[in-house]
Amino acid sequence: MARFDPHFLERLRDQLPVSQVVGQRVKLNRKGKEHWGLCPFHHEKSPSFKVNDDRGRYHCFGCGKDGDIVTFVMETEGHSFPEAVERLANLAGLELPAPDPKAAERADKRKSYHEIMELACRFFEAQLKSGNHRAVQDYIQLRALSPQTLALYRVGYAPPGNQLKTALEARGVSEADMLELGLIKKPEDGRAPFDFFRDRLMFPISDRQGRIIAFGGRVLGDGKPKYLNSSDTPLFNKSETLFGLAQARQAIHANKTLLVAEGYMDVLALAQAGFRYALAPLGTAMTEQHLGLLWRLAPEPILCLDGDSAGQAAAQRAGERALPLLKPGQSLRFLSLPEGQDPDDFLKDQGASAFSQAMEGARPMSEQLWSACLAEAPTDSPERQAAFWNRLRALADSIQDPEVRRGYHQLWRGWYEAQFFAPKAPAQRTFAARNQTGRFNLRGQDTRFQVSRAPTPSFAPGAPRAATRAATPARDSLLVRGLEGLLLALTQHPTLLPDYAEALSKVHFPRPKLATWSAELLDAALMIEETAADLDTEALQCHLNAALEAYGETERLQTLANSLAPYASRESSDDVARSGIEEFLTKLQEQQARDEQKRSQIEQLKQRVSGEQT
Ligand code: UTP
Ligand code: MN
Repeated sequence: MARFDPHFLERLRDQLPVSQVVGQRVKLNRKGKEHWGLCPFHHEKSPSFKVNDDRGRYHCFGCGKDGDIVTFVMETEGHSFPEAVERLANLAGLELPAPDPKAAERADKRKSYHEIMELACRFFEAQLKSGNHRAVQDYIQLRALSPQTLALYRVGYAPPGNQLKTALEARGVSEADMLELGLIKKPEDGRAPFDFFRDRLMFPISDRQGRIIAFGGRVLGDGKPKYLNSSDTPLFNKSETLFGLAQARQAIHANKTLLVAEGYMDVLALAQAGFRYALAPLGTAMTEQHLGLLWRLAPEPILCLDGDSAGQAAAQRAGERALPLLKPGQSLRFLSLPEGQDPDDFLKDQGASAFSQAMEGARPMSEQLWSACLAEAPTDSPERQAAFWNRLRALADSIQDPEVRRGYHQLWRGWYEAQFFAPKAPAQRTFAARNQTGRFNLRGQDTRFQVSRAPTPSFAPGAPRAATRAATPARDSLLVRGLEGLLLALTQHPTLLPDYAEALSKVHFPRPKLATWSAELLDAALMIEETAADLDTEALQCHLNAALEAYGETERLQTLANSLAPYASRESSDDVARSGIEEFLTKLQEQQARDEQKRSQIEQLKQRVSGEQT
């Protein structure tokens, strides 16, 4: 029997859940972590055939058949082992390694490759611990990495010169193997090979079992390149590896969630702060293999991205790549950190509990893509609105799963209708008789900064309830909490409404329910304005209370007013409320100006890129 490269078989098993392979032949029902169906190997009326993706195996309690994807294809289709592997490789879209009599030899070699990488890792660790290198100790102190974190991730130090090469040679490792594994490099000019990593803080990259397969090294200070990574080797394929997986595995399983950060230091900082379920790709965009791997670990991985434009662009790319692959129960969530902060900065700045809160506020996929599209281009004319819709529709169309696709269509169509065409919100009907030509210009020039009359649940008639509920502000981000504070302050201090209605009408609200609340406040402002002297304060109060109630979550808002936004509370004086509102609006305007600048930079970049392509 031709022997297959075990590494290849492992990849195959990683990429093809056994439920997918079995599911082509047997109708499976998911129950918790397992799938059940009627056993294809014997005749039965009630299902006793169990499939477990985590273990990559199936088992029949009726006839005792037991196996993995390869045996399943062999036994149900009568293939030989190599044929079955070939068929599965096709299914996974993987190229079959050329049949090779040396495969067995290579497999043994691979084992020794792992051993060499382990030796290198120990060498780097020992160098770090030796105390011979003052600069790296200082650097570790600067980055506030604890001894536990260093030990957990086996952080090391690559000294200057060719010390690794010398050390490995002394242990009998050949130069050829070191070259193959990317530990040394041969200069173009024919000089002797030299250590690839020199004077760098070293992060070992392991496979899921914790075997070292590559390294990343950070310069101590500001040199370039900041990080040097092993290039792909027989052990290491960047586009299907995630940094931190071996360390995070257990925590992911226990917490049923995981965080994807951008880099090494973020993963370490998160783990050190107690978020042990953090992973990172290796300086590349997220690939489909990455996504598949993530979804085998948790149903809704949280992408946690720098609040800078590169981070947002990465979020968008990952979102678009994930869309076609969405399945019932399988999605992504997005956690945007404040401008210019990565998780490491954020944790140092605001601490672990603020991060937990931010995590709660991670946005669902539907909201992330909706807002990103909305921010991409102005929507201030019917043509531009229709273009916006076409863009959203194309995104929804790319979803392969029919049920999920339908859900997105309905949800987004509902939001779209409500954003651009909806009549007044239900609570406003009480005042429907009032004329609409107030000075607040509710349909302003630039709808991006206009009150968005986006959906309350009743406005998205066909929208799946769960999805609508997912859009409620229970999982509030910092921005959302700030906006809630603003609206609460104006609700509790209606005498200030006329002064701030204009500004309010220009605020963009990222959540449908916030927009509805704001529209109610603008209505109230109009009412105050129009009825001036004989203002029916009772009716006004009633209207404001109704708006607050429609928003819901009064208890949480109360807590908000007690902690983060005291100016918004009913107890604070009008003056305090006024200065709180102004302070928040100023910050918001600065933020929006930055967003706008970012958008135009992206636009310029896009034009340049498309210019270069033609
Ligand atoms: P960042 O530049 O965001 O670095 O790169 P960082 O993770 O915040 O690191 P510190 O805090 O400055 O030390 C994110 C990731 O992109 C890859 C690395 O994987 C890094 O962790 N990267 C970055 C490279 O591969 N090469 C580089 O030169 C820079
Ligand atoms: Mn950083």
